[in-house]
Amino acid sequence: MPQSILFVCLGNICRSPMAEGAMREVSRRRGVEIVVDSAGTGGWHVGDPPDRRARAAALASGVDISGQKARQITAQDFDRFDQVVAMDRSVFGDLDALRPDAASGALSLFLDHVAGREGQDVADPYYGEEAGFAASWAEIMSGAEALLERLERGSAL
Ligand code: 4NP
Repeated sequence: MPQSILFVCLGNICRSPMAEGAMREVSRRRGVEIVVDSAGTGGWHVGDPPDRRARAAALASGVDISGQKARQITAQDFDRFDQVVAMDRSVFGDLDALRPDAASGALSLFLDHVAGREGQDVADPYYGEEAGFAASWAEIMSGAEALLERLERGSAL
């Protein structure tokens, strides 16, 4: 069974859809089979495609995330995925409260997988300038690479 990873942010239209697309891209490049998805803690954008600026930032690297649709996380996701990865500490706190005690899936913070960035947030680019999305995409791509390296080494996330 391939490893499965769910990335989670607030709205599921900016950071976690970029993480889903980035992880799919880096695993494809390295020929690693994994299952990837994303969700939001909030339900405001359910059914929406990623934000236009997020789609543009990914597409600038040749990654098309336009087919993804926002959804809200459920408690069952903690059993359906091996890894649930929060994009910031506030989301991590909400997920920690939602995660059933007996759930099989592990919960972690995205930047805890990047050496030197432990404990930090992937800043929400939603209310900022267009350029913020390019910076988020670059940060998320390097995080996805670090995450995949850990998975390939078989180290616990
Ligand atoms: P995301 O950004 O959590 O990275 O998808 C946000 C998108 C929308 C909202 C908040 C954050 N919102 O409140 O609508």
